Amino acid sequence: MSLDVSRADLCVGVVGTGAMGRGIAQVTAQGGIRAILFDAAEGGAAKAKAAILETLKGLVAKGRLTDADVAAVDGKLAVAATLADLKECHVVVEAVVENLEVKQKLFGELEAVVGPDTVLASNTSSIRIASIARSLKKRDRVCGLHYFNPVPLMKLVEVIRAADTAQWVVDAMVALGKRQTRVPVVVGDTPGFLVNLGGTAIGTEGLRIYTEGRASVSQIDAVMRDACGFRMGPFELMDLTGIDVNFPARKIIYEGFFHDRRMTPSPYHESLFHAGKLGRKTGCGWYDYDAKGAKLDPGADYAPSVEPAASVVVMDSHNEKLVAMVMAAGAKALAADDGKSPILVAPIGKDCTTIAIDRELDPTRTVAVDLTGDSAKRITLMTPPNANAAVRDAAAAMFVKAGTKVTLIKDSPGFIAQRMCAMIANLGCEMAMIGIASAQDVDTAMTLGLNYPRGPLALADWLGVKDCHEILVQAQAITGDDRYRPSQWLRRRAMLGLSATTPE
Ligand SMILES: NC(=O)c1ccc[n+]([C@@H]2O[C@H](COP(=O)([O-])OP(=O)(O)OC[C@H]3O[C@@H](n4cnc5c(N)ncnc54)[C@H](O)[C@@H]3O)[C@@H](O)[C@H]2O)c1
Repeated sequence: MSLDVSRADLCVGVVGTGAMGRGIAQVTAQGGIRAILFDAAEGGAAKAKAAILETLKGLVAKGRLTDADVAAVDGKLAVAATLADLKECHVVVEAVVENLEVKQKLFGELEAVVGPDTVLASNTSSIRIASIARSLKKRDRVCGLHYFNPVPLMKLVEVIRAADTAQWVVDAMVALGKRQTRVPVVVGDTPGFLVNLGGTAIGTEGLRIYTEGRASVSQIDAVMRDACGFRMGPFELMDLTGIDVNFPARKIIYEGFFHDRRMTPSPYHESLFHAGKLGRKTGCGWYDYDAKGAKLDPGADYAPSVEPAASVVVMDSHNEKLVAMVMAAGAKALAADDGKSPILVAPIGKDCTTIAIDRELDPTRTVAVDLTGDSAKRITLMTPPNANAAVRDAAAAMFVKAGTKVTLIKDSPGFIAQRMCAMIANLGCEMAMIGIASAQDVDTAMTLGLNYPRGPLALADWLGVKDCHEILVQAQAITGDDRYRPSQWLRRRAMLGLSATTPE
């Protein structure tokens, strides 16, 4: 069995022409493929076609398309009066409401209408493809085709292979995605598929650091933006997508993976959900927003008005980045303890208390520095609970003088940047290992689907694969929480000195 997706008369049905369906119809027609639109709402499909053409005419006005392009799309889009009008389709993509019973009923009706080899695909974001296929007579032609919103701008499409999906169906849907000028990745039928699962790591770890009282929402977001190059921190993102959307999604994934501690949701997240503080849409969530919708950010910078330290003890003198910063501030880097200066350490994974005890340093003067990522923009400091505040502040002022922003957090394994990046990387490694997608597709999907600066496996390389593994080992030892257990995928590559992207 096969489907030649390159055939000139290829015909794709789109059922449900709301936000997603109309985007799917648009990229189908723009790919030169005939698309037949159907919606249960009276006049819904015709309205969708008109809206697509209106959007494209707007692009003609901007000089991005020609009238001929719009006419070509117009010629490819047809409106169906009934579901039976889809009988000629080679593929039907379903984008109706996110409700299992509705989808099962629709697929049953489609099965009675289309030919025996028509591919039936669902754009569901959270329902298992196998459960939609369950009630059908012929399940091997059912798969997921998960597009992202807004479809014309988001290049990624996840092709979801359920337990019964035939290989020819997967191959055909990959080819269809390419004809629609998408970037297809093949993904397993697991909770959250690829992107929505991979995307949980940044949120759950941000929440964990916050829940432990190690750093504020604002500090975590600032470090992820400035040091790690993410467009948004996890709390800004949660407020944008809406806590009514992301809290239930976290719970579905946690339940779906049978309470794997890596996916643990946070009770503070749940509290906001119950309080109806849903983020931007309600004017408050993790942040408050003013009447114009601007975020009221309490700030993440620590800049004490004290004399910067004139000399510091640099225990990690091989750390060129650290030494360069001390020099940039015009301070003296001492190789041995003078009994009064701040003692700077740059731990990987360990908290400042552990380092001070391990190395027999004076904990009251020990200041741990995280230079992960873009340290010219922001660094993070932390100290043991019995820190000498004057010594700590002199060290912070020295870094400010060196020209960077400083975030001061409570003592924590892996600061913010190390913990967050290692957890994003670890989940990516696990997804590659358990075969949710290939290593390459994990990175492709996460960069295209979530606008990450790099995919999770590339992020492990960016941290240093050995360091990434060490951060997790230390976090697991210090917290005693299995949530930090390193993926075997990562462990082997760290031991062998390989890139985390190395396939098996
Ligand atoms: N919105 C997103 O960001 C997004 C992203 C990826 C996937 N999805 C998934 O795509 C699907 C559609 O989401 P949406 O945001 O476009 O929803 P929507 O509410 O904008 O559109 C749904 C459309 O389906 C129609 N419809 C409902 N029941 C129908 C039926 N039985 N037969 C035919 N038409 C029917 C409705 O009239 C409506 O026009 C959902 O499964 C959703 O989970 C949504």
